[in-house]
Amino acid sequence: MKVIVTGGAGFIGTNFIYYVLEKHPENEYICLDKLTYAGNLTNLEEAIKNPRFKFVKGDIADRDLIYRLFAEERPDQIVNFAAESHVDRSVLFPDEFLRTNITGVGVLLDACRKYGIERFHQVSTDEVYGDLPLDRKDLFFTEDTPLNPSSPYSSSKASADLIALAYHRTYGLPVTISRCSNNYGAYQFPEKLIPLMIYNAMHDIELPVYGEGINVRDWLFVEDHCIAIDLILQSGKIGEVYNVGGHNEKQNIEVVKAILKATNKPKTLIKYVTDRPGHDLRYAIDPEKIWNELGWKPLTPFEKGIEQTIKWYLENVEWMKDIMTGEYEKYYSEVYNNREEKFGR
Ligand code: NAD
Ligand code: DAU
Repeated sequence: MKVIVTGGAGFIGTNFIYYVLEKHPENEYICLDKLTYAGNLTNLEEAIKNPRFKFVKGDIADRDLIYRLFAEERPDQIVNFAAESHVDRSVLFPDEFLRTNITGVGVLLDACRKYGIERFHQVSTDEVYGDLPLDRKDLFFTEDTPLNPSSPYSSSKASADLIALAYHRTYGLPVTISRCSNNYGAYQFPEKLIPLMIYNAMHDIELPVYGEGINVRDWLFVEDHCIAIDLILQSGKIGEVYNVGGHNEKQNIEVVKAILKATNKPKTLIKYVTDRPGHDLRYAIDPEKIWNELGWKPLTPFEKGIEQTIKWYLENVEWMKDIMTGEYEKYYSEVYNNREEKFGR
């Protein structure tokens, strides 16, 4: 089987490539990635040594390039991780989100129709459902929860889901979709909460917590997400959506304090700042479908996963330093410099 993994030089894609190269010695994998600020070819240094792996630099929205790639490689499966993925950036620069996350997915789906494939898997997000109230712990996102996205990022991902499902219904394209909760682990770009807070704690820089720090995210170790996607590729039902999550809800401030404790840094580093516009309150996945139908359950508890993650960042300081220059510094000052200090909890 030949599999194209788009966006494989990013956080989850990198972890997925290492997981499947080992899990499926019979398969060949091609990573197609545009190498935006979030894509890092050094992540794939070890994979590139493997004769069953190939890297191609390219944009999923570039129709000519995508058609050429499909014509040459004749892939059996496509797993689409490629996306602009950061909510704060989508607030500042929505255009690129629409181009990659919507048009890009449309181009991939057209290529799948034109050349024929066995499966197109769209890696989506729980954010397509919008958010849940903080005071209703009994509510969860199921696959039937109506789509109600809040940000340019999540609305672009919701659009892609709808387009993929429409290509299944209209053209019979063999599509599956996974909607996962917040991931954490190695190789995550330090603009996202966990690696950003680890980096700042390591360097005694203030930890900017949005609002009161009481928003809730449902954290999943990245390898568990990779296992779930692989399982959906093996045994998921065509045309179906699978929510992926492990009932691991935490307030942001709890996560930040856990990082400070693990890095032996004082709580005085916490700085409560102006909230994210449109900030989703709570995400919480009901994972019953994938648990019952495919027998998937997360293997790594948060305490173990966060310890492993912090250790990885401490051991990979150079990896962080290399990507946190130039464009990153500009982004950091744009997002954080004009946020006022607030009083948190
Ligand atoms: P990421 O930002 O770390 O990586 C995205 C990758 O896509 C990068 O390598 C980037 O270079 C590449 N890319 C961007 N635009 C491209 C384009 N036009 N053509 C080709 N490649 C392009 O993202 P991530 O956190 O690894 O997320 C991967 C996918 O999983 C995304 O689709 C995201 O919506 C989804 N997801 C993420 C999470 C999470 O917590 N990080 C949770 C659920 C779902
Ligand atoms: O739920 C899945 C989604 O999780 C994915 O689809 C997205 O690609 C991924 O980025 C993530 O989105 P979030 O917006 O939840 O993740 P982020 O790490 O940006 O923020 C997590 C929470 O922490 C959120 O409530 C905002 C808050 N936060 C974030 C940053 C970067 C802060 O308080 N301070 C910060 O500096």
